[in-house]
Amino acid sequence: MKTIPACKTPKFVQQLQWIFNPTGYLQTNHSRYPDIFKANVIGLGDDIIFTSNPEITQYILTHDRQQFTAPSRLNAILRPLIGDYSVIMLDGDRHRQRRQLVMPSFHGERLKVYGDLTCRITQQVMEKIPQNQPFFAREIMQDISLKVIMEAVFGVSQGERYEALEQRLKKMLDLFNSPITSAFLFFPFMQKDWGNWSPWGRFLRQREAIDQLIYAEISDRKGNPDPDRTDILSLLMAATDEQGKSMNDQELRDELMTLLVAGHETTASAMAWALYWLHHNPEVKEKLMEELNTLSPDTEGMEIFRLPYLTAVCNETLRLSPSAMLTFTRVAQEKVEVLGYTFEPGDMVQGCMYLTHLREDLYPNPQQFNPQRFLDRQYTPYEFIPFGGGSRRCVGEALAQFEMKLVVATIMSEYCLKLADNQPEKQQRRGLTLSPTRGVKMIVEGKRQPEEVRELELSRQ
Ligand code: HEM
Repeated sequence: MKTIPACKTPKFVQQLQWIFNPTGYLQTNHSRYPDIFKANVIGLGDDIIFTSNPEITQYILTHDRQQFTAPSRLNAILRPLIGDYSVIMLDGDRHRQRRQLVMPSFHGERLKVYGDLTCRITQQVMEKIPQNQPFFAREIMQDISLKVIMEAVFGVSQGERYEALEQRLKKMLDLFNSPITSAFLFFPFMQKDWGNWSPWGRFLRQREAIDQLIYAEISDRKGNPDPDRTDILSLLMAATDEQGKSMNDQELRDELMTLLVAGHETTASAMAWALYWLHHNPEVKEKLMEELNTLSPDTEGMEIFRLPYLTAVCNETLRLSPSAMLTFTRVAQEKVEVLGYTFEPGDMVQGCMYLTHLREDLYPNPQQFNPQRFLDRQYTPYEFIPFGGGSRRCVGEALAQFEMKLVVATIMSEYCLKLADNQPEKQQRRGLTLSPTRGVKMIVEGKRQPEEVRELELSRQ
């Protein structure tokens, strides 16, 4: 029987490290306790267990309805953003039903609809960037992913109300764009409304404005029902529970807010990282360009989705620069032994994909960006696990991967970009997620014309 080791750093220091340098904190502990350790970090509860071992993670996530559960109360840190009634805040049957309701919107046939849309939005957004002037890829990717998720949620992204919503959402989430401002989410005592000049005050005002826009949309839809609409808001409005009750306005608002927030921040960071790694590794970029050069203008989104090297590039990006560090918390319901470690009832545990993805035994030379590893080896869903697993596995996984591939393929095929400088990017906390510290500063050198592309590439060699 093995004891789960505990991080010995004083609790207060661990809490600060977790907010201001979470990746450093995880890596230091990983070097001491390679498979599993107990942490004392703010926002997740005392003595929370982090594991990077794929077998332990697999056991927990494949038993997270009985031996382990995934209680919503432990996700309370998200409450200020998403309220009490979102899928993340539901448990048991209600949780399962809500997932079943929204999942089809992000899979199969619906994805195909988003394919053309994603390419169109990417072109529109990229078109507006002036040539030879630096821009931040993280911001541009956020513009794209926010527009895509707005279309999925509302069925439209144009018009005064949607534009206002988009601007407000961006402003609200940008309030958490640094580790310091992210601390407001972790320390409830900092969550005080001291007027518009105080960070929390600004957050509350943005949120209030967003709520008004969402409620106005719900009210309009109720006034003009259209049975032909297939967007998520329409699906949610039409759905009823087992007692025949439909969702009230507050429930609708919380779910929409969840999908809007969870559905674009993470994807935007992942796409910005993909552009960074491609331009940081010319040989990888070249190999991808060879694959993309085989496409024709009428290649379907699903064909692009299945391209092997593009898939390897996106997987390697999600491995080395995952947007989420952890799964949501799972709680042991009985005494369970996994790989010689005993979990007592009530023990809280999280799969740490950030560390799993840096395991030398799975990914030799783990800090190197090397898409080829995904072509040489098949990883299990618990060795490569950017979207978690089990009962709370990401509902937007398919959309995120589809969108990421289409956006990267569209930009790489149509534009010549370069990094604006040689400074390396690092991962930094952005709210509860990770994003590139400097925002990936890039420059558009020009639009690719099939012939010019080759000339430009040749002249550089
Ligand atoms: C690169 C992009 C994304 C990453 C890395 C990511 C990652 C994750 C992770 C790690 C979880 C927790 C899983 C667990 O506890 O096992 C999760 C949950 C979730 N994600 Fe994502 N996600 C992404 C994109 C999206 C998108 C596009 C949407 C919406 C369309 C979305 C909606 C959600 C929701 C609603 C949950 C909670 C599910 C539940 O409580 O049942 N995510 N995501």
